[in-house]
Amino acid sequence: MKKVLVLIAACALAASAEARSAADPLPGVANGLARTPPMGWNSWNKFGCNVNEKLVRSAVDAMVSTGMRDAGYQYIVIDDCWQGQRNAQGDIEPDASRFPSGMAALADYIHKKGLKFGIYSDAGTKTCGGRPGSRGREFQDAQRYASWGVDYLKYDWCNTGTQDAASSYLTMSEALQASGRPIVFSLCEWGNSKPWLWATNVGNLWRTTGDVDDHWEGLNPNGYSIGVMNIVDMQAGLESFAGPGHWNDPDMLEVGNGGMSDNEYRAHFSLWAVMAAPLMAGNDLSAMSRETKAILLNKEVIAVDQDPLGIPASRVAKNGDAEIWSRPLKGGGRAVVLLNRGTAPRDITVTWEDLRYPNTLNAGVRDLWLHKDLPRTKGRYTAHVPGHGVVMVVIRP
Ligand code: GLA
Repeated sequence: MKKVLVLIAACALAASAEARSAADPLPGVANGLARTPPMGWNSWNKFGCNVNEKLVRSAVDAMVSTGMRDAGYQYIVIDDCWQGQRNAQGDIEPDASRFPSGMAALADYIHKKGLKFGIYSDAGTKTCGGRPGSRGREFQDAQRYASWGVDYLKYDWCNTGTQDAASSYLTMSEALQASGRPIVFSLCEWGNSKPWLWATNVGNLWRTTGDVDDHWEGLNPNGYSIGVMNIVDMQAGLESFAGPGHWNDPDMLEVGNGGMSDNEYRAHFSLWAVMAAPLMAGNDLSAMSRETKAILLNKEVIAVDQDPLGIPASRVAKNGDAEIWSRPLKGGGRAVVLLNRGTAPRDITVTWEDLRYPNTLNAGVRDLWLHKDLPRTKGRYTAHVPGHGVVMVVIRP
């Protein structure tokens, strides 16, 4: 019976999500959190299963000392492999060799630095890394996380067999609500069952794709992670499903992990910001190059990501390797990413028609990577864009 109701609810949600416009966002999951896309750091992209409390504390310290906290990064999320076994009461325990001080102490350390604490589990019997999953223990686990002071849960989809995604995620969503603690709920189901159609009131963000790879384009030989251009292609058309409290999640950032050039990382970061994606740094924060810092700490690009209207970009023009992604900003401006997917530099033009502005409008142009106001212009703006790169501007009437 419950399943039937869930299905009916999912269909109704899907229909209403399709009917609404981005300018009229649904309220999202009842926890009232993530009114702008979550920002923070997650251990997975750089450290995989090699997590421990020393590493997490060093990420916390770096978040503060580099200025990232003050730039808006908030959640410190420990991904897979923090778990040990369940104790005699069935409560999950952290792996004691990696987290000897326990999770409540770590949460305390994080909170005292003005940050928030995120953790990871899985809707199935085991996590992707083979640790205990939450299946059948959802309410018990949610209580446990709340007692530790957890503020964010990423919930994965490995080892789920024939489980139904919508009802599995709804169960954990209800468990988090019942815990009494406000906890951001991050669905990591890889887009398999189109969560944008049913998760608006279930979670605050949902993965739209498989795992990001630290490369520009193509399938990693591991057979599952894909380059940032592949991910970007899969976001086109999903923009109307996201808004304050419920975001499309094209996976975490690879900026600074070494597989791409600085131009490529600037493109990655700019595209994530224009798409109103969560900005979860995935690198070693304690050892960042000047360039990596300049990317992750670009406050003008972050402001686009965090724009209070919360309307993700659409791909408004595509001509071979030249693309224009644009989103409306509070106050009538437009954030525009001119993307060059080819290897050779090229001129790319955005027209006011692309931006739904009148041709005659004389508009200001601010370059967000040069940090510079450019001359006002009418009808169009042309930029010279590096290969595998972007120019990102805000156009304002
Ligand atoms: C999946 C997720 C990743 C990461 C790993 C952990 O692949 O998509 O983001 O959480 O599991 O094992």
